[in-house]
Amino acid sequence: MKPNVLCSVWISEEALKKLEKVANVETRFGGGTLPKQELLKIVGKFDGVIIGGECFDKEVINAASRLKVISRRGVGYDKVNIQAASERGIYVTLTPVNAETVADVTFGLILAVARKIPQAHFYVKDGEWETKKSNADFRGLDVFGKTIGIIGLGRIGSIMAKRARGFDMDVLYNDLIRNDRLEEDLRLKFVRLDNLLSNADVITIHTSLNEKTKGMIGEKELRTMKKTAILINTARGPIVDQTALYSALKERWIAGAGLDVFMEEPLNSDDPLLALDNVVLLPHIGSETIECRKRMSMICVDNTIRALRGEKPIYCVTS
Ligand code: 8YV
Repeated sequence: MKPNVLCSVWISEEALKKLEKVANVETRFGGGTLPKQELLKIVGKFDGVIIGGECFDKEVINAASRLKVISRRGVGYDKVNIQAASERGIYVTLTPVNAETVADVTFGLILAVARKIPQAHFYVKDGEWETKKSNADFRGLDVFGKTIGIIGLGRIGSIMAKRARGFDMDVLYNDLIRNDRLEEDLRLKFVRLDNLLSNADVITIHTSLNEKTKGMIGEKELRTMKKTAILINTARGPIVDQTALYSALKERWIAGAGLDVFMEEPLNSDDPLLALDNVVLLPHIGSETIECRKRMSMICVDNTIRALRGEKPIYCVTS
């Protein structure tokens, strides 16, 4: 009998075909993240799950009586209780092939905020250019030659450093561990977080979400930043205190923000952030490109197949 696999996120046709050769696959494409209550009802019949942002806490894991693998189509695993999965011998796997793609969108956000690109786009589209004839509202900030502060010099942060050097930016970074090689190769400067916050023109977050990073950018940190600074978050929403960020943007403690991630996703349609003119908001599309999703699809399927065969998957975070 073939094992049962739930696939709650889109995977490519090629990857799906590969998986269907070895498993009965139930797909739930396009419906958003499965709510915990629904997962609790259905998870018991699956041997493997390929998931996006679903919650796999202890309760869900305990209800998953025959589960062998939680295969994340992504790199963050803050919604999965790793300890509970390890105790039950369930592999938790990732698809670390998105760094360049996320760095691209992060740079896109930096430029969009600094140069007010979305606002200018709608000005042209809405036919206002012809009537108002003035471009002064879109006078933005230079990006090239400025100082960028990278919080978290992991896979994505390192690529951001490389991209930033291409823009002739000075690069400051903060992390738990220093990377001497990159410091030398790319001329990066390791600094304390408060130093990074007070000196960078663009601050970009690339840490994972955990107990230490939750709320790491709050009112005190936002007030430390320059009035002309731009904050970018394509990592995880709860790293930034969203209420404090709203005040910072509204009262202009900082110049602007670009966000791909939020405390709660999807963002509520009456969220106060939507009314601000100095923020660019994306619906968590960091790795949403055709090429990246294809790469991620094959890897999350390979991870699943290996685990179903009883072999340890390559991109595994459980021991
Ligand atoms: C996914 C992500 O879009 O890599 C991650 O952890 O946040 C994104 O790539 C998300 O996990 C939904 O699949």
